[in-house]
Amino acid sequence: MKRDVIIACDFPSAEATYKFLDNFTGDKPFVKIGMELFYSEGPDIVRELKSRGHKIFLDLKLHDIPNTVKSAMRQLAVLGADMVNVHAAGGSKMMAAAKQGLIEGAAEAGLSDVPLLIAVTQLTSTTDDMLKDELLIEEPMADVVKKYAYNAKSSGLDGVVCSPLEAAVVHETCGDDFLTVTPGIRFATDSTDDQARITTPAKAKDLTSDFIVVGRSITKAEDPVAAYEKCLKEFI
Ligand code: C5P
Repeated sequence: MKRDVIIACDFPSAEATYKFLDNFTGDKPFVKIGMELFYSEGPDIVRELKSRGHKIFLDLKLHDIPNTVKSAMRQLAVLGADMVNVHAAGGSKMMAAAKQGLIEGAAEAGLSDVPLLIAVTQLTSTTDDMLKDELLIEEPMADVVKKYAYNAKSSGLDGVVCSPLEAAVVHETCGDDFLTVTPGIRFATDSTDDQARITTPAKAKDLTSDFIVVGRSITKAEDPVAAYEKCLKEFI
C-alpha cells in the first residue's frame, strides 16, 4: 500500500469544502470526510468529491450490532468510499460483519477494489483515568491499543487509526502490511491547537506511519497547496 497524506476536510458545508479543494488544480488529494460534513451534506458529498477525482476516507466510526454495521457498510461501499472505519470496541464479530458488508457492497456496485477498513482502537480523547474509572478497563492504554489492533487484524481489517507514536508497536503486533492511519500531525513551526501528542510529517515517516491525516496545518495555512506539498515532500 502506497503511503499518502490525507487532508481532513473539517468544514461545515459542501460549499466551504469545494472552495477549499478548488485550490488544488494538480493531482487531487486524498481527503477525509468526517461526521460534521457527512451529516450536513449527506452521501452526495461523497459522490461529488469522487467525481472530482478525490480518494475518500469516510470517517464515520461505526459501532452497532454486527448486522446493522454490515448493512451500513454495504451502502458506504456502493457510495464509492476508499477507506472507512469502525470502533474496535464493537468486537470481532462486528468488525468481521463490517468487512463482509464492504465486500458485498463493492461487488454490488461492480467495483474491483473493496474499501480499506480501519479500526479506531481507543480515541485519543480517552485518558488512562477514563479507561479505569468509567470503562472499568484495568489494563494500561498501550496494551489495550495492542489488543484491539490484534482483534482488528484477526477480524480481517486492513489497519487502525493510531498515534504515529504507536505505529511501530502496531506493526510489530500485526505485521508491516497492517496499515497505520495517524492524525496528530503538525509542522515544526505550527501551533499544536488541541492535539496533545503531535508529530511532524517527517517524524511520522520515521515512525512507520502509512497514512497521515492532516487537518488544520493544511486547511488553515496561508497557502494550503504549499502546505500540502510540504507534507508530501516530508512524508513520501
Ligand atoms: O486539524 P488536525 O490536524 O488536528 O485534524 C486531525 C483530524 O483527525 C481531525 O479530523 C480529527 O477529528 C481526526 N482525528 C484525530 N485523532 C483521532 C482520530 C481522528 O485527531 N484519534
